[in-house]
Amino acid sequence: MNTHARDAFGHDTTADEVLEGIDLTGKLALVTGGSSGLGAETARALASKGARVVITARDLAKAQSVLADIKSATGNQDIAVEELELASFDSIRAFAQRFLEKYGALDILINNAGVMACPKGKTEDGFERQFGTNHLGHFLLTTLIAPALIKSGSARVVSVSSAGHRFSPVVFEDVNYENRDYEKWQAYGQSKTANALFAVGLNGRLKDHGVEAFSIHPGAIPTDLARHMSEEEIEGFRQRAESGEMRLKTVESGAATQTYAATAPELEGHGGAYLADCRICTVDDTIDGLSNDGMSFVSSYAIDPEAAERLWVLSEEATGGRLAV
Ligand SMILES: NC(=O)c1ccc[n+]([C@@H]2O[C@H](COP(=O)([O-])OP(=O)(O)OC[C@H]3O[C@@H](n4cnc5c(N)ncnc54)[C@H](OP(=O)(O)O)[C@@H]3O)[C@@H](O)[C@H]2O)c1
Repeated sequence: MNTHARDAFGHDTTADEVLEGIDLTGKLALVTGGSSGLGAETARALASKGARVVITARDLAKAQSVLADIKSATGNQDIAVEELELASFDSIRAFAQRFLEKYGALDILINNAGVMACPKGKTEDGFERQFGTNHLGHFLLTTLIAPALIKSGSARVVSVSSAGHRFSPVVFEDVNYENRDYEKWQAYGQSKTANALFAVGLNGRLKDHGVEAFSIHPGAIPTDLARHMSEEEIEGFRQRAESGEMRLKTVESGAATQTYAATAPELEGHGGAYLADCRICTVDDTIDGLSNDGMSFVSSYAIDPEAAERLWVLSEEATGGRLAV
């Protein structure tokens, strides 16, 4: 019997609680950025329910130790790691080819890997690093491995966005910061808006093929994501957390919403939605995105179907990725 009522899920719900009563035996899940933080915890939670899990990592040695921890914590030995550098289209294409050759139907894809507020830089293919890694990399990956998702007949794709999407819409005229000053938080926001819009565009294209896509905000969780933040910025976050203005989550709770979006039967038919705290968010364009309330809403520009279409066209042109449907 479930001890946690599904309609009472919220801020502190953990990934394990979300999966109570759910059997993932026979399902294949792919989690990008499984070498740390929320990706590692999501992979562990899915593996604990019998899923076969593949995590991707750019640092294989780091991921091997996560893999060993997951195997020993869950007893599930059907966990693998594959190399994937999302800032390189060559690496993504090579991974997708290996993946399609090695594995069959893909039931759950969690596009979780991400970089936040890094100094100005470019991906191997010349795109602004945050937009290129967080969005374009996952766009190309997903379009290339879509045949495996369609083969499932009932698949979910989860795009790990952020309440940080409120820092910026996608600025279509200049996604790469070629004609405006680079601002690292704005660039993160643009990439996270793109993550949410990608779920809208993907869901529209694949829902009739048995694939539903969602985007989520995981919460505010202390992880290695903060690696590019200055001491001053970290102190600012610490003060907001201490004053109660920004409630923090543990990694176990931080992984809950993506695990929920990937598995909750009650989300069927709601593809394209943006979730936080294991709930579908409604739109609010006025609230401070980093306040506790702000984290429970989505900006209209992040789920706008027209912007999603515009982003899709831009992303196809940038990556060469095209869905074969
Ligand atoms: N933590 C939060 O408060 C928070 C809030 C909102 C949204 N999010 C989102 O949650 C997701 C997971 O973040 P996290 O908090 O778990 O951070 P994390 O611990 O830093 O994990 C990020 C993962 O992404 C991988 N990654 C980064 N750049 C990559 C690249 N170029 N190619 C391949 N993999 C790459 C990292 O690999 P390495 O181990 O090699 O670095 C790591 O496995 C991100 O998309 C983030 O934007 C987090």
